[in-house]
Amino acid sequence: MKTYRVAILGCRSRGTSAARAYHAHPRTKVVGLCDLIEDRLNTLGDELDLDARFTDLDEMIRQTGPDIVAIPTAPALHAPLALRVLEHGVNIEVEKPMGMDLIETDAVMNKAAEKGVQTAVHHQWRLSAWNQAVNHAYQAGKIGELRYIYASGKGYYGGFGLMEIGTHVLTQVIKYGGHCQSVTAHATTRGRPITPQDVLPAPRGNGTVAGDHVTATLQFANGVTGTLLQHKFKQIELDAHVVELYGTEGRLMWHPRGAWWLPNPHVPPANERDAWEALTPIYADSFAQAVEKTPPDLKLNEGDYWFVDEYVRALDEGREHECSGAEGSHVVEIIMGIFESAAYGTRVDLPQSNREHPLIRWRRETGLDAPEPMPMTDPEWHIEEEKRLGG
Ligand SMILES: NC(=O)c1ccc[n+]([C@@H]2O[C@H](COP(=O)([O-])OP(=O)(O)OC[C@H]3O[C@@H](n4cnc5c(N)ncnc54)[C@H](O)[C@@H]3O)[C@@H](O)[C@H]2O)c1
Repeated sequence: MKTYRVAILGCRSRGTSAARAYHAHPRTKVVGLCDLIEDRLNTLGDELDLDARFTDLDEMIRQTGPDIVAIPTAPALHAPLALRVLEHGVNIEVEKPMGMDLIETDAVMNKAAEKGVQTAVHHQWRLSAWNQAVNHAYQAGKIGELRYIYASGKGYYGGFGLMEIGTHVLTQVIKYGGHCQSVTAHATTRGRPITPQDVLPAPRGNGTVAGDHVTATLQFANGVTGTLLQHKFKQIELDAHVVELYGTEGRLMWHPRGAWWLPNPHVPPANERDAWEALTPIYADSFAQAVEKTPPDLKLNEGDYWFVDEYVRALDEGREHECSGAEGSHVVEIIMGIFESAAYGTRVDLPQSNREHPLIRWRRETGLDAPEPMPMTDPEWHIEEEKRLGG
């Protein structure tokens, strides 16, 4: 059985989490680390007891010959770095979202096809233990035929939430609904429909966004309809972050820290006979041994571990990762469709023929340049936005 060699490009929080999962999995071995900041490189290198440390990614790939390069870097770097790594003809996984617009995701998909390698997007929640439980119950027919999907973020500024959390939520939604055919969306800023002046660079460098409340209706290939809410709350509400499947015979709910089954699709609150039942999380087969192998003070994320486990099985079987580049690009396609529909007030059929970012296009068509830069960190960004809106 082959052991897959893995190089990590970006050694901060997500790179550390990914490296731990690849290090702990019996079928993968971390063979190289790269970061521009030597302290981060050395902290992770010391943790893994690995001397192959680089500040130049091309050098790392040339010297270590990886099968997979993981790219957990800042959002605007995902596609540019993916393209640079793909030149070496290696499989990649890139953090979410896959790109800032469709021009970027198309370029990554085309380059991967030209090189004949795999792309995956680090949407680990799609594979995590609670979603495995939901999927298991769904496949067992626990809710009959799927007819509607409800999904919500946890209260970030709408357009930013779409890029930050919506990317995760949407890939879970398309797992059940299938690919999205069309989108109808509404976006508001302080309760009024967005204008081209409301188009802004998102916090944390998460692309170009608009709207503090974004609501989208999604139509899927198999006749299922979905609703996605990305609404800004006064405070983040972790419990709002759910994906709920409504079937003809019941409902299933996913939450980052739980999953439940309701054995009836229509239950008035007082009906105790049909209460929600908690599901049991399902972990990757070798996860328990991997936890034992990992020092107790280091957290091994079960979703990241599932993601690695799936990459091993996909490469063994010569098939795509469940969180493939194609799935990740389709998620960006939906997000751009939502922005386009909200801006132009029309239904948008997918895939879009115009691949330019729809909000940038919208501004240009009304005589505006790209928006001015905004602070990267959330608190400073919100202060600036309050000022723009007049306090
Ligand atoms: N999947 C998830 O659940 C999840 C959760 C949080 C964040 N994220 C995403 O993960 C990504 C990474 O976040 P983070 O907070 O770990 O990292 P970060 O963006 O703060 O750090 C990335 C690291 O990459 C390094 N880097 C950048 N360009 C490089 C280059 N050319 N060569 C070598 N090193 C380079 C930087 O020096 C930095 O240390 C972000 O895109 C974020 O959106 C995903």
